[in-house]
Parts: sequence; structure tokens; C-alpha cells
Amino acid sequence: MRVLSGIQPSGRFHWGNYFGAIRQYIELQEGNEVYYFIANLHALTSTRDKELLEQYTLDAALDLLALGVDPDRAVLFVQSDVPQVCQLFWLLLAITPMGLLERCVSYKEKRAQGIPADTGLFAYPVLQAADILAYDAELVPVGEDQKQHIEVTRDIAGRFNHLFGETFVLPRAKILQEAARVPGLDGQKMSKSYGNTIEVFDEPSVIRKKCMRIVTDSRPIEEPKEPEGDHLFQLYSLFATAEEREEMAATYRRGGFKYSDVKKALAEKAAAFFESARQRRQELEADLPRVRQILADGAATARRKAEEVLRRAQEAAGVYRSKGL
Ligand code: ADP
Ligand code: TRP
Repeated sequence: MRVLSGIQPSGRFHWGNYFGAIRQYIELQEGNEVYYFIANLHALTSTRDKELLEQYTLDAALDLLALGVDPDRAVLFVQSDVPQVCQLFWLLLAITPMGLLERCVSYKEKRAQGIPADTGLFAYPVLQAADILAYDAELVPVGEDQKQHIEVTRDIAGRFNHLFGETFVLPRAKILQEAARVPGLDGQKMSKSYGNTIEVFDEPSVIRKKCMRIVTDSRPIEEPKEPEGDHLFQLYSLFATAEEREEMAATYRRGGFKYSDVKKALAEKAAAFFESARQRRQELEADLPRVRQILADGAATARRKAEEVLRRAQEAAGVYRSKGL
């Protein structure tokens, strides 16, 4: 199965990104042909800071590699290294009804928040469709919030196929486990936009400081507490073995414990959990030419595939290409 997903370089990855997406990308490397890319062109719709965009793009590559994306098994690349996607983007844009994009929740939400709408934000799902269709991807692992964009991709591909003949493979979304929804420091969903995140590669001392800030209630220490639904317990469970989790659940139910001790235990476990990735990241950081080579190799593979699909789409639509090009 050909699997593809993109992740925006809009900040450093947090625990939600890891458990909700990256870990599952890594698992999908087993037995599939996987394409993963850093969606820097999409990030351009919200980031206008040149240095930050460049930095986050490279950081995303380092983070993904350190966390287990394996360049021997996955095609890892940066979106902008495959210009064929932008050419395909136009072919799709030309046949995409306005109404299809007007219905997109991501656009409607941003408008409702008063974020000024550039056409890039409006056309965002069409670029995403080009990303997916350019590689004949069959399965697209994404969070629930992206489901609509995969449906839009299918609509656009279906319309193109209907107008010009069978050209594109219709992809399916693989919705990443809802159970993996990670709460943030305040108990809401962990998200950059809520400022409640703990980053995967935070230093252990920073992880500890942030853990101590996790919001808890002020019930007396001795009162028995229900672990299910408690966000501190949920965070602890991410890093604990099954027995440790059971033990902690029993402690909650017995009462007589301090939340601050749970926070300390969580910080320790989380730091240990990411320790080997942290070391790998340091090694990669010390050898940036190697990282850039991995991205260049990934882009070369991705371009070959995207070129084949672009040619197919151009021929189908009667878009001229001079001989030898
Ligand atoms: P953010 O909300 O911080 O901006 P993104 O929207 O960039 O995060 O998320 C990138 C990926 O990480 C998506 O696939 C999303 O489903 C996943 N993800 C983000 N936050 C969480 C979370 N708290 N729990 C589970 N998955 C998450
Ligand atoms: N829009 C996706 C997000 O914000 C990122 C993305 C861009 C993507 N292109 C993609 C995801 C293609 C899957 C497939 O999370």
C-alpha cells in the first residue's frame, strides 16, 4: 500500500504530535511504501517569518529522523523540493468548484476568528489534493481535523477523472486513533494554538518545569480520586507500562497522594522515554550535511514519481509540453 502524509513545520513537535501522528507514521513504515513530507508551502499560509520557516523545516526533518522515520524505508522530503506538485495544483485548481472550498471548515473557522483570508488559505485544500494525487497515494493517515481535506481530494480527483478520463488514484483517509488525543497542561487538547504544549525535545529540566504546571484540582490529598478522565493520569499513561498504569490507577483510587508526586514521576518517565531520540537528534544535528542529503535523496525519488503523474495529468487535459522536456 502506498501511504503518504504531510506535516506542517509550524513549530516544534509536541507530545500530541508524537502520539497522535508521528508514532503512527513510524509504525506504517512496516510493510508499506511510505512518503512523508514537510509541508512548508502550506505553512506559508500562516507563517511570514522567513528565518522561522527555514528553521522549523529543518527542525521537522531532524525531529522526524530522530524519532524513527527511517530513510531506508521511507521517502522523506520537503514539499517545496517537488515543483511538479505546484504545476499539478494549477491543473486541479482550474476544475475545482468554488463551493467545494467555501464549505471547508478550516477556511470557515479561520474566517470566523477574523484571520484575513488570502487566496492561499482558500486554496489550501487544493494544494493538499495535489500533494496526495502527485504520488498515486492510496492511504493518507491524518487527524480527524483533516478528514474533510481528503474528501475534497477525492471530489477533485473524481471530477478530473470524469472530465478527462481515468487519471488519478482516489485516496482513502486513515483517521489516526482518537484514543491518542493527548491533553495539554490545562486539560484541553494539547495544541500549539492553546499554548498548553510540552515539546518532545524539550530538555528534561524544561519538561519537569512544564509538568509541574499541569492544572490539577484542589481536593484534599486523602480523598480517593477517579483516574479515568483525569488528564494528569492520561499523560502519565502515555509513558507508563501497563503495570505502572494500574499501580497509579490504584493510588488514585486509594487517595493519600500528592499531584506533585505524580507530576514528578511523569516528568521522569517522559524524559527517559525520549532520551534515545534526543541523543539521535544531537548526532543528526552535528551532521547536517547528512540530513540535507537524506532530504535531497527523498526529493529525487518524490520528483520522479510526481513527474510521471504530472505528465499523465497534462496529457489527459491536453496541456502542451514541448518535445524533450
Ligand atoms: P497543533 O494543534 O499543535 O497545531 P497540528 O494541527 O499541527 O497541531 O497537528 C499535526 C498532527 O498532530 C495532526 O495529525 C494531529 O492530528 C496531531 N495532533 C496534534 N495535537 C494532537 C493531540 N493533542 N492529540 C493527538 N494528536 C494530535
Ligand atoms: N494540512 C495538513 C495538516 O495541517 C498537512 C498536509 C499538507 C497534509 N499536505 C498534506 C497531510 C497531504 C496529508 C496529506 O495537518
